Order: sequence, then structure tokens, then C-alpha cells
Amino acid sequence: MDFQLKSMRLATAAAAKTPALIVLVADGFEPGGDALSALIRRASGSGDFKTEAGALLASYGSAGIEAGRVVLAGIGDGHLAHVRKGVAAALGALKGSPATTLTLCFAQPAAPAALGAAVLAASDAAYIYTATKSKETFKDHVDLRQVVVGEPDATATAARGAFEYAVSIAEGVRLAREWANRPANHATPAMLGEAARALGKLPRMDCEVLGPKEVAKLGMGAFQAVAQGSGQALRFIVLRYRGAAKAEAPVVLVGKGITFDSGGISLKPGLEMDEMKFDMSGAASVLGVFRALAGLRPRINVVGLIPACENLPDGHAVKPGDVVTSMSGQTIEILNTDAEGRLILCDALTYAERFSPRAVIDIATLTGACAIALGGVRSGLFSTDDALAQALLAAGERGLDPCWRMPLDDEYAEGLKSNFADVANVGGRPAGAVTAAKFLQRFASAYPWAHLDIAGTAWKSGAVKGATGRPVGLLMQYLLEQAAHAAAPPQPAAQRKTARAAAKPRR
Ligand code: BES
Ligand code: MN
Ligand code: ZN
Repeated sequence: MDFQLKSMRLATAAAAKTPALIVLVADGFEPGGDALSALIRRASGSGDFKTEAGALLASYGSAGIEAGRVVLAGIGDGHLAHVRKGVAAALGALKGSPATTLTLCFAQPAAPAALGAAVLAASDAAYIYTATKSKETFKDHVDLRQVVVGEPDATATAARGAFEYAVSIAEGVRLAREWANRPANHATPAMLGEAARALGKLPRMDCEVLGPKEVAKLGMGAFQAVAQGSGQALRFIVLRYRGAAKAEAPVVLVGKGITFDSGGISLKPGLEMDEMKFDMSGAASVLGVFRALAGLRPRINVVGLIPACENLPDGHAVKPGDVVTSMSGQTIEILNTDAEGRLILCDALTYAERFSPRAVIDIATLTGACAIALGGVRSGLFSTDDALAQALLAAGERGLDPCWRMPLDDEYAEGLKSNFADVANVGGRPAGAVTAAKFLQRFASAYPWAHLDIAGTAWKSGAVKGATGRPVGLLMQYLLEQAAHAAAPPQPAAQRKTARAAAKPRR
């Protein structure tokens, strides 16, 4: 979708030859002498329109206004979440209209971030999944191709910057949604590898895709164990974005790429099992971030790691009680084959050590328990590093993609004790999201580490079933803020050394 930013007052918007016009009106609007102001004044006066976020008034063929369809949309006090709500509601009202282009105009001067929020909301509302539907389904569908965003002071540098950011992030969110939405037979580990390879062709990008032989050579016994019950060969994807000097330590993102999670021999119940095609949403978010990085080219180095495979039961599948050796050298008793995410992630976390990263963030639809704890509003955040946790929490708030910090007390690791290996892969039902994080922590002692459990936030169920593209917004906000602070001194070196010394030896 094509976005354009234009400097626009209401008088200009009224004269714009556009098939559809959305006017975003915040509290305290002071009408001018133009036709749109007159419409807003009349509608407000009669009580038919309010500026509260999400309130709408749709009209057609209004006097003095060139656009056919006009939708007035309230954005409350103009806060980002309210802008998002207003834009989403307005685009919903235009659903089914034959307009392929529209103008989205702020009635009053808006903060640069509000322009970004409008772009992201419009892109989100206009996204439709088509990959596995026949053309027939779309004969009546109208594709929104162009959105012009208008605002009185849109020529300001800050406004342009925020707008460009949002356009690139929106592309990343769309890519993440698209891959997460695709069914498992249209998003195999090999296909994810190809998608990553395509991103690797973009400027400053590199991509390497490892197959079963290379992964065996690395000693990723935990990852291999999950993949061994499936006919689809595993892939280990390494994406690199070089936006800063070679010597600068990268941020490493690790995305869980289970393209389908049946549970394996510890088979899941049938109800809603189809939704386990979304179990590669973490991987999809990493692809989305790299897509956005390619557009924005911030001054930061980023590595993306994606272990991708299916978790299926067959005669070769890993069995409850099997003990495997991870790349770190730690042995793992697999008591439940449905706790597979942590098994593929732990080897990727060990692999991450070779980049001497400034931070490692893994993103995973890891536990149903996290979805129960936090629902679909906030992702679960776990971190061994307070500064990293704070940065991610703040990025989540600013990027309208919030998370919530969860504990990592050692007592939570009690249940992971095993009589037959260094660690078990499950620790009982209480605090399931935390015990999963405690498992991962054992493999992430060499660097500042954070884990985002997106089991509740990565997709929606029911009639609106589909991927959300989260947490691309959070991660991009974080990375852009890190790039902006690149001049600031990095993590205290002493702290990093102790962590490395404490790390278990690698094979
Ligand atoms: N992919 C699931 C987690 C999940 C379940 C996410 C439902 C979203 C909705 C994960 O691999 C899993 O199966 N986790 C188990 C862990 C348990 C066996 C300790 C779970 O959450 O039940
Ligand atoms: Mn599972
Ligand atoms: Zn899973």
C-alpha cells in the first residue's frame, strides 16, 4: 500500500478530489470558515457527532466538499491509542465502499507520533489475507491502494520522520501477519527459509539458511529432537542487518519457528489445534523486523535467528522420557514433547553467543499459561537485565504494543529438576510461563537477555481469527531507540564478563 504525507488544512481537505475522506477530530476542535468545519460544527451541535475516540459520523455528498464519502472520526484527546481507535473505526465504516484511495486528514495539528499511529492503524485495518483463497472470493473485494495522510504542519521534519518510520514498520507488521497467517502447508520451514533469503537480498542484509546436516554438526540436539517426528526438514535461519560499524555488538532476535505444533507424542486435544499454525509467530515477527529495518536502515547491527521445524508425532518422533544433549552441553529430559518451543530456542540461544551480542531477545508463542495470565493485551516480558527490561517496557508503551514484566525467581526452577538429565523440559502447571522462562534462562547467561512470551498477543481467535503482527511494533521501537542512543556508553563491561564466565561450557 502506498502512503503519502501532505500538508493539509480543512479548507484544502474540503477541496481535495478524493473518493473518500476521513477527518480525525480531537477534543477542543475550533471550527474555521471552511465547509468541513461547518459540517463538524453542525454535527456536534446536533449531538450526532462526538470527539470521543472511535465515535463516527458517515455522510455522503456534503455541500462544499469534493469527496463523495466523508467520515468524521473522533480521536479523543489525540493520544496515540485514541488515534489508532479512531482510524480503525473510520476504515471499518468505509469497508465495502468501492474507493481504492482515501485521504485521512487531521482537523487539528497533531504530534508526529500521531501521524505514525494513523499510518499503522490504516495499514492494519486495510490488510486482508488472500494467499490461500481463490480469486472468486475476491471478485467484490476492493483493494485500498493509496492513503494520503494530511495534517496542517506535515512538512515539519519531525512529522516526516515519524511518518516514514511508521510506513516501514507497517510493512514489517504486514509481512509478519502474512507469514503467521499462512497455513502450515504453505509456510513450511523451507518456505520460511526462502522468505528470509529474499530479505537477505536487500541492501545491508545477509542471510544464511542451515539444513539438518549443518544443524547436526553444530550439536543442536534439542532442536533436532523436536524436528525428528516430521517429514519436513528443519531449517536454521541466520539473518544479518549491518547498519553500524562491524565492531559494534549486535542485538540478536531469536524467533520461535514451529510451523505447526501438534504437541508431538504428547498430542494436543483436537479443539482449535489449527491455531497451532500460528506457532511460528515469533519467527514471523523477526522476518517483519528485518523487512522494516531494510526500509529504515537505522544505525545498529541486528542478527535474526530462526529455528524452524514442525512438532509432529510419528515412528521417529521424540518420546516422553527421552534425554537429548543441547548445543550448550546440558542434557535435557523431555518429559512432555509439547514443551517443544523451549527446546528449539535453547540451542538458538547458545548459537547466539558467537555474536558477542549487546542483548538477546527471544520472541515465542511459548506457553498457554502466559495467554491465561495476560490475555491478548500485553505480552509477557522476562529479563535478566533491568536496563534491557526497562527499555523494552518503554518501547512497548510508545509503540502501542505493550508488554508486562514477569518474575524470574530461582524458586520457580525447582520443578525443572530431573533424575535422569541436567534439566527437565517441564516444571508442572503452576506458573507455567515462568518455568518455561527459567528453562531458557539456563542457556542465556552469556549476555543480557530478554524473553517475550507472545502466546496471548500474536493472534486473535474466533470470528476475527488471524495474526496481529505483534510484537514487530515493540521490537522496532526498541531497535530505533537503541540506534538513536548508539553514541551512549554500552553495558558495563564487568557485568558482561561475569555472565560469560558463568556460562556452561559449549561442546
Ligand atoms: N505453542 C504452545 C503454547 C501455546 C498454546 C500458545 C496455546 C498459544 C496457545 C507450546 O508449545 C505448548 O504447547 N506449551 C505447553 C507447555 C506445557 C506442555 C508445559 C502449554 O502451554 O500447554
Ligand atoms: Mn507445544
Ligand atoms: Zn509450541
